[in-house]
Amino acid sequence: MIHGPNLGLLGRREPEIYGRTTLAEIDAALQALGSELGLEVRCLQRDGEGEIVSAIGAAPGSVQGILINPAAYTHTSVAIRDALAAVAGMGVPAVEVHLSQTAARDEFRQRSLVAGVCRGTVAGFGAGSYLLGLRGLAALLGEAGA
Ligand code: DQA
Repeated sequence: MIHGPNLGLLGRREPEIYGRTTLAEIDAALQALGSELGLEVRCLQRDGEGEIVSAIGAAPGSVQGILINPAAYTHTSVAIRDALAAVAGMGVPAVEVHLSQTAARDEFRQRSLVAGVCRGTVAGFGAGSYLLGLRGLAALLGEAGA
């Protein structure tokens, strides 16, 4: 699980948009669901675009799949898109998640540069988006292993 910029502030950050669940609570819920699904979930949050690119690049050989909320970089980062495309080509699928329904927000949030290189997107369910995204990723990994 890769959390992008400003998501370390969840719980206190614009709660009317992002809710009151903290990042630590989201990570704990992901890990609990992961153990139900037979997956180990490792979570990291980075504010820097380059650090996120490096984390994605380190994925092959280390993790089976990526769940990512690129936050504001969703709408701006060709580098993160390229990193996700690169590792997808090496057999590491990604699922994009967002707390808010980005399609219903500012025009600049309505375009995702990463969506086209992710296997699926879940947005608009608050912290629930992460759990739905993990279920989707688990299903993809199950199909790949089948
Ligand atoms: C977000 C949506 C982005 O537009 C925004 O920049 C974020 C959070 C979400 O989860 O709803 O930081 O990715």
